[in-house]
Amino acid sequence: RDRSGRRVYDLRAAVGSRRFRSGRATVTWGVNGDYLGPTLRAARGEKVLVNVRNELGEPTTMHWHGMHLPAAMDGGPHQMIEPGAAWSPTWTIDQPAATLWYHPHPHARTALHVYRGLAGLFIVDDPKAGTLGLPSRYGVDDVPVIVQDKKFTDTDQFSAERPMMGGTGILGDAILVNGTLAPFHEVTTQRTRLRLLNASTARVYDFGFSDDRPFALVGTDGGLLPAPFHTTRVQLSPGERAEIVVTLRPTERVTLRSYPPDLGTDLWNSRFTGGDDTLDILELCAGHVLGSSPALPGVLAERPDLETAGAVTRSFELGGHRINGRRMDMSRIDFAVAKDTTEIWQITNCGNTPHNFHVHDVQFQVLSVGGADPTPELSGWKDTVYVPPNAPVRIAVRFKDYTDPAVPYMYHCHLLYHEDQRMMGQFTVT
Ligand code: C2O
Ligand code: CU
Ligand code: CU
Repeated sequence: RDRSGRRVYDLRAAVGSRRFRSGRATVTWGVNGDYLGPTLRAARGEKVLVNVRNELGEPTTMHWHGMHLPAAMDGGPHQMIEPGAAWSPTWTIDQPAATLWYHPHPHARTALHVYRGLAGLFIVDDPKAGTLGLPSRYGVDDVPVIVQDKKFTDTDQFSAERPMMGGTGILGDAILVNGTLAPFHEVTTQRTRLRLLNASTARVYDFGFSDDRPFALVGTDGGLLPAPFHTTRVQLSPGERAEIVVTLRPTERVTLRSYPPDLGTDLWNSRFTGGDDTLDILELCAGHVLGSSPALPGVLAERPDLETAGAVTRSFELGGHRINGRRMDMSRIDFAVAKDTTEIWQITNCGNTPHNFHVHDVQFQVLSVGGADPTPELSGWKDTVYVPPNAPVRIAVRFKDYTDPAVPYMYHCHLLYHEDQRMMGQFTVT
C-alpha cells in the first residue's frame, strides 16, 4: 500500500525462458517471471495502482479484462507502453467478486503477446458478500486454472503457425495449465473450487470430468451466478471464465478434460476449428483424508435484471473478420453511448466460423441467444459471450460512473487472431 492507502502492484513484462518439456528451453514472455504473471487480488471499494514496466523490447499494453474502470486506465491499444517505459493506471474497484484477468492489447499484436505468455488473473473480492461458504483458500481448495493450448516446434519453441484451414488462429495440441504441461493438483478437501480461464488465442473448450461426474457451476465472467447450476459440462470460448466446485472422495483421481465443443458451425468448419478435439487439462488426486467443506449455498447472487423497456437496439454483424463491414481503425470512433442508459446490443455471426464478442468496461446481461432464453451458464453477468453462426445474441448493456469523450473503449471478437485482423471497434461513453 502507498501513503494514500492505495494497493500498489508492480508488474514487469520481460522476455524469459522456461523448460516445459525435457528438451530445450522455450523462449517465453512473462510478467515478474518467465511465463504468465502473478495473480492480483483486490477487494471491492479498494483503490489500486498498478505500475506496469515494459522490458520487452517492443511496445505493448496491459488491459484489465472484465474490469469496470475509466477508459484511460483500460490498457487498450491507446495506452501503449514503449520499451523501457512504465504506465501506472489507478482506479477504485467497484464490482462484485469475480475472476477477471489481465493481458496485453497492442494494436494487431495481441495474439502474439498473449501466446508468448503475458497474462494473469485479477481476482476481485467482495468483503460485504463474504465467501458464502465457497472454497476460498487460494491454491488449496480455490485453485486458478489458466488454460492455454500450444504448438511446439521441433526445437521446443512456441510455434505461431496458424493452420491452413479453419481461419481461427493457432490451435495447439499441448495444454498448459498455469504454465505447466501435464499438470496435477493434490486435493485435500471434499470440495474444490476451480477458477477456469480460457486464455488461449483461438480454442474453445468444453470442460467436464473424465468420469462425467456432475459439478456445480457457481460463477462466470462477472461474478457468481444467481444459484449453483449442477451440470457435467461448461463451454468457454477465449477470454471467458467459469468458477466450478467439484466434490472428490478420498484417494479418488479424476481428470478435468475438454470434450469436443459445440461451435454451432457446419461440420467442416467445426473440424478445422477444434470442434473434434478431446484434450486432458488437469488431473485431480485426492489424499487419504479430506478436510470437510461447507455445503454449497442455494443462492449466490442477485440475478442481472436491467430494465430494457424503451431501450435502443444497436446491431453488430460479425463476418469476414469485420464488424458491420468495418475493420478497426484507431482514429475512428464507431459510436458514443450515453452514461446511465440501457441499450440492447444484438450481435449476429453471419458467417460459418466461430466468433465471440467482448465489451470493455462493463458486465452485461444476456437476454437471448437465437431467440431462446439464456441457459443457466449465461444467467450471470458476462463480459464475453460466444456467438454461434446465425443465432443472434441479444445483450443488455449499461455504462455507469465514467465518461470520456476522447478516449474510447473497445468491443471485439476475442479469438485473438480475429481481433488482430481488426475485428474490433471503439466507442466512447459520454
Ligand atoms: Cu481480453 Cu479487449 O480484451
Ligand atoms: Cu477486455
Ligand atoms: Cu472471431
